[in-house]
Amino acid sequence: MAINYNEKTQEFHLYNGEISYVFTILKNNQLGQLYFGKRIRHRESFSHMLQLRGCVLAPHTFKDDLNFSLEVIKQEYPAYGTGDYRSPAYQLTMENGSRITNYEYKSHEIYKGKKELQGLPATYGEKSDVTTLSIRMFDDQIHSDMIISYHIFEEHPVITRDVKFVNKGSEKLVIERAMSTSMDFYDSDFEMVQLDGAWSRERHVNKRKLQNGIQSVGSRRGGSSASHNPFIALKREETTENQGEVYGFSLVYSGNFLAQAEVDDYDVTRVLLGIHPFEFEWTLLEGQSFQTPEAVMVYSDKGLNGMSQAFHNLFKEHLIRGYWKDKVRPVLINNWEATYFDFTEDSILEIAEKSKDLGIKLFVLDDGWFGKRNNDHTSLGDWHVDYTKLPNGIEGIAQKITDKGLRFGLWFEPEMINEISDLYKEHEDWIIGDPGRKRTYGRNQFVLDFSNKDVVDYLFEKMSDILKSSNISYIKWDMNRNITEAFSAKLPANRQKEFFHRYILGVYDLYDRLNAAFPYILFESCASGGARFDPGMLYYAPQTWTSDDTDAVERLKIQYGTSMVYPLSSIGSHVSAIPNHQVSRETPLKMRADVAYFGTFGYELDVTKLTPEEEHIVSEQIKFFKKNRELIQQGNFYRLENSEDGRYSWMVISKDQKTAILASYKVWATPNPPLKKVLLQGLNSELNYHCEQRGLNFYGDELMHFGFLNEVEFTGLLQDNFEGEYNPGTDKGDFSSYVYTFEAK
Ligand code: DGJ
Repeated sequence: MAINYNEKTQEFHLYNGEISYVFTILKNNQLGQLYFGKRIRHRESFSHMLQLRGCVLAPHTFKDDLNFSLEVIKQEYPAYGTGDYRSPAYQLTMENGSRITNYEYKSHEIYKGKKELQGLPATYGEKSDVTTLSIRMFDDQIHSDMIISYHIFEEHPVITRDVKFVNKGSEKLVIERAMSTSMDFYDSDFEMVQLDGAWSRERHVNKRKLQNGIQSVGSRRGGSSASHNPFIALKREETTENQGEVYGFSLVYSGNFLAQAEVDDYDVTRVLLGIHPFEFEWTLLEGQSFQTPEAVMVYSDKGLNGMSQAFHNLFKEHLIRGYWKDKVRPVLINNWEATYFDFTEDSILEIAEKSKDLGIKLFVLDDGWFGKRNNDHTSLGDWHVDYTKLPNGIEGIAQKITDKGLRFGLWFEPEMINEISDLYKEHEDWIIGDPGRKRTYGRNQFVLDFSNKDVVDYLFEKMSDILKSSNISYIKWDMNRNITEAFSAKLPANRQKEFFHRYILGVYDLYDRLNAAFPYILFESCASGGARFDPGMLYYAPQTWTSDDTDAVERLKIQYGTSMVYPLSSIGSHVSAIPNHQVSRETPLKMRADVAYFGTFGYELDVTKLTPEEEHIVSEQIKFFKKNRELIQQGNFYRLENSEDGRYSWMVISKDQKTAILASYKVWATPNPPLKKVLLQGLNSELNYHCEQRGLNFYGDELMHFGFLNEVEFTGLLQDNFEGEYNPGTDKGDFSSYVYTFEAK
């Protein structure tokens, strides 16, 4: 891993074993993009890559130099108003109303390691893991620095970027847009991959061919949202899961975001990723600075799986932190779908007792334990226990559950308040909204103003009191509505557009303080299911509730898409009851577990209602998961198949390539179906693997190149017409699934 600066040519080359990123200081002292992709040899000069060429009518920066037009030059962090008519990476307004800036290269610094981004989540690394290049651009009229930082990791095909604006002058500057990264690609021959959805169907994979003009996804909801994930990828048309080029972009941020690809008149594609400029502004007075979130850019020539593994490895090693980072996660049971609001200490203890017998290790008490919370109209904000349900308090139930040998976890929704609550009576001024005007309800609740430090301080105290008083080792932090009427009573008029970003900084602040005060607590983030599944959250909470939809078939789509960016160790996945509470579908207990294994794994049903046969199946499932969870959490994950007729398969293989698990799922039965096989990935060709479920051995090369034969699907049986040996197939009916283990001898 190195960052090379060629003083003569004024070029930077960032490279590791897999990727190169090259850019240059242009003649106008701004930065020009030359190359991002597979590692290329370092050379004395890359200047020929700039290929300046004019167009008679193009605006040009230097008198009579038609060739130097920012309209056609690929840039690193383009400004507004310079003849480059594409979307700029940033925009500022000065006191006289001017939006024209001129930041020029002044100096740079290269150092081993990576500094924290104050108040924001970000990747981290030791000096041996990561090298940083910080470029100081300066606008001498407004005396302002713009520090563009690049980070290259030794072991990952990844560049991360962020930008900091510093106002060193006396003039007030208003930032109107400050993207985290801007990247100009040579061509537009790409498909844009995005993860879209809604409540209960989060992160479905969609793709579209790039067209001239702007195509974008984003969030204006105050959270990263279920609608779109803060991620896009640009892949070649021929790129598959395992082959071909793809660039992935992910934002380490949980608030409003914009991810955009713009194809210009010359087929250059500009990708912008950062805080959504809509409703955003940030005022910088003398001495103040603004830090953008971090953008992660991955290059893979090994298809979408290569990209996903790069994100997974980076996030597992350099984003997720703390005690639980590499620890196997306990198999949990959550009482939400078992009881909803309707529980007592006794009913909870019964579920806990049975859970313990089945091998479960963590009991999570979900919504409904506080205030008078018998439905979702009341009590959010009143973080004191409901003694009618829990006569011995949280302290009592936590103790009784830990006495059984289980850990105890608790649900909070700290960002919210109900009108029917004591907190509402005391602090209506803490609610987001324009006082005197109507507020919009969301799940019957309002959002607390996390841009107000008093609110964050209050919640830290309230939550800390409970966490200190009881034996709690897990928190599920929920967030069940988006922001409307964005207005903070605490902010002055000219800073109202700072609100959305300040809100999320408040959320990070509370998380950070709780992480520091309770370092052994395992946090799981959640937002009406998976509406805030983003890298920002992973910095504070190593796992995320993926979706309220626990139906096995729906989860195939959701987990398939989620795995594009997020590691299995972060994907909250539970087995729930049938008929499923979200889609009313009935799938076998086996399939429900076979899907949930590829995540953090747990149960969300009333285990006291299981039949003895189901109890046996569940305890075997838990044994299976415990035996394999290290591999599942730490191995390399490959998506293998996702066909339109509802066949899915995926696998996970240990880093040493010695053990693997393959899972295949069939949603719909096909009449008289063709035979099927699946090509495995990532195995060692030389190793001989034993497959327990087939009772056979296979060499890695055979599994990867001939493939692994699926179970024979039922072909129909007209009993009277057949005599002698006949194999009508064993894989019968809809909703079947198979899990195979492979162990190198
Ligand atoms: C939404 C979450 O996604 C559910 O798991 C559950 O915790 C409910 N909120 C509780 O209100």
